Amino acid sequence: MKRVLTGIQPSGHITLGNYLGAIRPLIQLQQDDDVELLVFIADLHAITVPQDRQALKKNIKELAALYLACGLDLNKAHMFIQSEVPCHNQLGWVMECNSYIGELERMTQFKDKKQKQTEGISAGLLTYPPLMAADILLYDADLVPVGEDQKQHLEITRNLAERFNNKYSETFKVPEPYILKNGARIMSLVDPTKKMSKSDANPKAYITLLDDINIAKKKIKSAVTDSDGNIKYDVINKPGISNLLTIYSALTNISISELETKYQDSNYQTFKEDLANIVACFLTKIQSKFNYYINDSELDLVLNSGRDYAYHYASRKIQKVYRKVGLGRN
Ligand code: TYM
Repeated sequence: MKRVLTGIQPSGHITLGNYLGAIRPLIQLQQDDDVELLVFIADLHAITVPQDRQALKKNIKELAALYLACGLDLNKAHMFIQSEVPCHNQLGWVMECNSYIGELERMTQFKDKKQKQTEGISAGLLTYPPLMAADILLYDADLVPVGEDQKQHLEITRNLAERFNNKYSETFKVPEPYILKNGARIMSLVDPTKKMSKSDANPKAYITLLDDINIAKKKIKSAVTDSDGNIKYDVINKPGISNLLTIYSALTNISISELETKYQDSNYQTFKEDLANIVACFLTKIQSKFNYYINDSELDLVLNSGRDYAYHYASRKIQKVYRKVGLGRN
């Protein structure tokens, strides 16, 4: 049985980038008979930057409903909220004590976020990767579907697992990242050299799964592209249209080269209109399921049962780790 694990921060509505980078591969992997999914809402990670209390609470619940709306199969998956399983903090601390400040300071995401934040950079922003390593190592995950921006965090997770195993004997499974070729790095619709991010100051840069359908269509139609008008995939010279081709291909499973042929005699306007309709159709389906799950009293029961399942597994792992490190009395 393979264990697949991933988490998403509830720091705003999730974007098409989050969906294509992390949720779509998760849903693909769940087709496999021999797989178990652990999916969580990384609320502890979200507070590494300031959050509004009410908005955070709302985003946590909405993310849970969105995972289900995207097709998470509860016969295969356990879904829980990270802060409801305290073992994450417990192992996070042990991982922190086995991490070096230098390696944490070299993390690209830390450097980027530190640059963007003008005041009050939290220590949590620096120690984010050991907590993420704990999230994964607690459950002996085999595969971790993520977007490309998380690759470095997966590398440090693997290093920390090996470091701990070498120091204290075999304890953790060393996980593999699962990064799809198509969709692992969806770019901003306003500046296609930048990653699409839910924390972008300009909402035209991203599409969230809960965007108003007409606004989402407008965002696609006004996405920044070059002026030569050829629908060709060329990330270096034509990042805008390449990004739109990636989104089109990932949402329809039509290969990029087939799309290039299909649109060889078309202009950007026709292509964007078609893609806007594809995105609209995709969002309409997700949103109608979302509206069902967010109002369903079962959602809390699903999260309770996910929490209990996760705690049962993780608490045994924590006991083992504490024993090996020499903590407490047992
Ligand atoms: P977060 O919340 O920033 O993003 C959630 C997932 O979406 C992917 N992603 C993207 N993929 C493609 N294109 C984009 N533009 C794009 N933007 C985001 C991310 O790579 C991620 O897979 N640290 C994680 C949350 C986390 C986690 C974990 C993930 C905490 N613990 C353990 C896996 C395993 C994060 O900040 O993701």
